[in-house]
Amino acid sequence: MFPLVTGAYWQKSGYTHLSFLHQNIPEVKSKLPNIGQTIFTVMSQLAQNEKAINLSQGFPGFDCDSELQKLVSHFMQKGHNQYAPMSGMPKLREAIAEKTRKTLSINVDPDSEITVTSGATEALFAAITATVHAGDEVIVFEPAYDSYQPAIELSGGIPVFIPLTMPDFSIDWDLVKSKVSDKARLIIINTPHNPSGYVWTSDDLAQLAAIVEDKCIYILSDEVYEHIVFDGRKHLSLLSHPQLRKKSFVCSSFGKTFHITGWKIGYCIAPKALTVELRKVHQYLTFSTSTPMQLAIAEYLEEESRYLKLSAFYQQKRDLFCEGLKSTPFKFFPAQGSFFQLVEYGHLTDCSDLDLAVRLTKENKVASIPISVFYSGNQDPKMLRFCFAKRDEELLQALDRLQKANI
Ligand SMILES: Cc1ncc(COP(=O)(O)O)c(C=O)c1O
Repeated sequence: MFPLVTGAYWQKSGYTHLSFLHQNIPEVKSKLPNIGQTIFTVMSQLAQNEKAINLSQGFPGFDCDSELQKLVSHFMQKGHNQYAPMSGMPKLREAIAEKTRKTLSINVDPDSEITVTSGATEALFAAITATVHAGDEVIVFEPAYDSYQPAIELSGGIPVFIPLTMPDFSIDWDLVKSKVSDKARLIIINTPHNPSGYVWTSDDLAQLAAIVEDKCIYILSDEVYEHIVFDGRKHLSLLSHPQLRKKSFVCSSFGKTFHITGWKIGYCIAPKALTVELRKVHQYLTFSTSTPMQLAIAEYLEEESRYLKLSAFYQQKRDLFCEGLKSTPFKFFPAQGSFFQLVEYGHLTDCSDLDLAVRLTKENKVASIPISVFYSGNQDPKMLRFCFAKRDEELLQALDRLQKANI
């Protein structure tokens, strides 16, 4: 039973809405008062209601390989249906170590440095929770993926936002140096970057290494689009930099790599001491992740072309989409990586990005994501994000509609 409380008590303690008193249910004092439904849900819902082509949320519009599906059924039928070990199935951790050896030429210890998580989102949350104490500052580059800020705030951390430089979304390293204070505990980076597609350079890695040298600052590197880079670029993982690697949690997602976002399977690679702390959180967050799916992915990873061909697969889609965009009034720079393409429209109208995204969904039946939602202060650089991880026919139809749009 809840103790009887008076309105004055709740007001004093910060509970401002008293409607619950009529129902004898104490209202929750929100830890995230400013967080509502994400724009991804809102735009996907609108796309569905309007029967629009949904280029908003970042998920593939095609199915994963049937071989992978068969492997899951196979392992289910063989009885692999109970809890996996907390750190992940040994077979999958070994396969991830092997993939890391093949792609980055470095060795990671599957037992003490790799943890399988329920999507990269869980890995990010666990790493933030494991390292950020109340009052610690966390550097976040904006525009930023939306899960970082709430995780920082739930740990009592203070996000310090640093804008990426327009128009290419590169990093202003002098600005970063001026913002890293003695209270900084964690720097979150994302390469290839969502939403801009910016891919970190070796100079970016060197600049970051110089900033964190001799400081007790950890790095959380969100590399979920690690296998989607274009025009011959190379993804530079933080694992490939010996100094940075010692301080980094590197997170990735099989959802993005194998077109299985609904399976929510990701992983985190970090040095042993950091992994110990990450696992303490993971252990009580989800404990472990779907057993048959882990086993299926482990076997599927054996053929390296399955992830190495991903850049070429998506480059064809990026090129097709960008070619069609040339016949629209939007301005754009082709994405360097990820499966998103940004477009600029500030030269066409003063309309807010949210209004334009809604209008294009309703009038032209193409849904996108307004970029202001990736900024803490809702800055509006007059840009929209389109996801091109869709079937070619769908992309062509969307382009046809965008070409006819009256912006
Ligand atoms: C930059 C970034 N990080 C993390 C995630 C989440 O990955 P997962 O679905 O594996 O949790 C996404 C998904 O859109 C993303 O774009």
